[in-house]
Amino acid sequence: MSHFTTEFLPIMNGYNGKMESSSSLSWIVGFLLLTVALGCFLIYRSLLPKPIAGIPYNHDAANRLLGDVPEAMQHIKETEEMMTFLTTQIERHNTPIVQVFMRPGGKPWVILSDFRESQDILVRRTREFDRSDFFGDLFISVLPANQVHMRTNDTWRAHRRLMADTMSTAFLNKVAAQQIYGSALEIVGMWREKARLADGRPFQVYKDVFRGALDVIWAVTFGSEVGTTRNQRKYLSELKGIEVSTDVDAPVDLPMIQNPEAFEAIMTLGESCEIPMKSPFPRLHHAMALRFYPRYVSARKVVDRLLTDGLRSAWVKFTQQGASEGEVRSALDLMVEREVVMAKKAERKPAYDTQDIRDELLGFLFAGHETTSTTLTWGLKFITTKRDVQQKLRGVLQAEFQRAHVARVNPTVEEIVTADIPYLDAVIEEIHRCGGTASSNVRVATEDAVVLGHLIPKGTSVFMLCNGPGYKSRPIAIDESKRSKTSQENVRDNVSWDPNNANDFLPERWLVANEKGHLVFEPRAGPNQPFGAGPRGCFGRKLASLELKLLVILFVWSFDLQPTPPALSSFAGHDGMTHSPQQCFLRLKPLL
Ligand code: HEM
Ligand SMILES: *[C@@H]1O[C@H](CO)[C@@H](O)[C@H](O)[C@H]1NC(C)=O
Ligand SMILES: *[C@@H]1O[C@H](CO)[C@@H](O)[C@H](O)[C@H]1NC(C)=O
Repeated sequence: MSHFTTEFLPIMNGYNGKMESSSSLSWIVGFLLLTVALGCFLIYRSLLPKPIAGIPYNHDAANRLLGDVPEAMQHIKETEEMMTFLTTQIERHNTPIVQVFMRPGGKPWVILSDFRESQDILVRRTREFDRSDFFGDLFISVLPANQVHMRTNDTWRAHRRLMADTMSTAFLNKVAAQQIYGSALEIVGMWREKARLADGRPFQVYKDVFRGALDVIWAVTFGSEVGTTRNQRKYLSELKGIEVSTDVDAPVDLPMIQNPEAFEAIMTLGESCEIPMKSPFPRLHHAMALRFYPRYVSARKVVDRLLTDGLRSAWVKFTQQGASEGEVRSALDLMVEREVVMAKKAERKPAYDTQDIRDELLGFLFAGHETTSTTLTWGLKFITTKRDVQQKLRGVLQAEFQRAHVARVNPTVEEIVTADIPYLDAVIEEIHRCGGTASSNVRVATEDAVVLGHLIPKGTSVFMLCNGPGYKSRPIAIDESKRSKTSQENVRDNVSWDPNNANDFLPERWLVANEKGHLVFEPRAGPNQPFGAGPRGCFGRKLASLELKLLVILFVWSFDLQPTPPALSSFAGHDGMTHSPQQCFLRLKPLL
């Protein structure tokens, strides 16, 4: 716009003052039109994509204001997937690095598909690369004081410290595991009812997993029960039977009851994060929606009240009632308890209800919910489809938990938490790899930086894909001298999968023999970055792993996940906040 106003103003002044004759008037009009046309042209030119020298791109796209957007839209329309659009660009140009123009008037996105360089950027090149706005934009309007969108500075460090104890072994194994276990048994109980009613027919479980995972993370965060799954289970248990088709392959639609208000409010606020994902003006659009859409306004109120009440009663518990560390039941308890202790030491008033604490707690809930439930739904699909894996896993678990197997009961939470089961770890890691809940990790260049010999200007976002070449297909060859110095030095990252089976679900790829000849789980066996990496890698990784361990064990222990009809077994994905499956049907046969 600046071109326009500076050139336009002097002419306006001239016209108001001295111009009289019609010939000079038409001259002025002509000049004015020319200026406007020139201005428009300059604006047009300034909005056209500006490719970074040397990095391949689509030439058609570079000549359009909308860049690659139309083609991406077409791809999303056909597939519901966005990330695979980026992967197809890597494949089209057959180079490990390409650029696409997805933000009209904005900088190109650089797409990188190479494990070694990505690992190097995430782990070692942290001075040149930091958390990108693409990721931060999703959360900043709901959680202004949460670590997720901050640059890696002292404020971020303080937030990590504030939350650190929630990932301590003591909290995870004693407090979180109990809460997860209880919620998991509710899901199992509800599915028993569903299996009874469906009578051998498949049914959709996507929402069950979604709700169940919220029960889980809710219990860990607040120490209370939101009770969504319990309510459903109770309702279903009272049904004598439902009408089902004679076709045993026809999916059964099971009735459901209304979810609790608190549950709906959390879901509504969480869903609002898809607004910035899809909008060209992410922050503004999201902030306005939260402020003015009645459903978001009322959801926010419910959630705020929840946090206020929760923090207040934890404070009462740890001050007036003199509860101690042993009575910590949740992340919220933990934070208040620590604050009470620290304030006492420093002889100040405890600040237990601060914006920082509120936004970190709510972030805990959001970050831990959709990611984990999406990963679980992929897991259920793979375990269903790969019957050999399922049978082997069940056999391994029955051998590990012999007491429970003989007694025909569930293994206890203590038994599960202390068990070391390499094959289970391998199955879960393979679920992460093949499901691809987070199909890319994004960083922004905080200064001009060189990647594979190309100068990436400061402020450019780099999307590091983990769903294509180098991860799930043959890596694209890269001249060693083009790699960064630190990448060349770290030959330990020089790992790759056999291109003949890189795209297969094969847990064994994660198992290697140790000195004694025992197969152990080797997390560095090959390329995978489900939780990102480096200082800004996933904060909740340990909790997520504990949750997946407990849930996968209890599901496989309790049910035979029988084959589902092909029409209900697609592995097509949907890219919203995460990369989730379009279909998640199970045909369950209870085992206990
Ligand atoms: C299977 C489950 C999960 C997956 C796949 C996952 C994945 C990720 C990924 C890919 C990132 C970005 C990493 C990067 O940029 O390098 C991330 C960040 C984060 N995750 Fe997770 N996550 C999961 C579960 C959780 C849980 C349970 C919590 C918390 C309770 C959590 C909290 C966070 C937080 C706070 C961040 C931001 C960290 C920062 O900016 O410093 N996540 N996660
Ligand atoms: C850290 O970065 C965030 C923005 O990402 C900013 O709001 C905050 O003030 C910064 N803190 C410090 C200590 O620089
Ligand atoms: C990386 O691994 C491949 C395959 O094992 C090998 O051919 C190559 O020489 C290795 N490169 C470096 C720099 O170690």
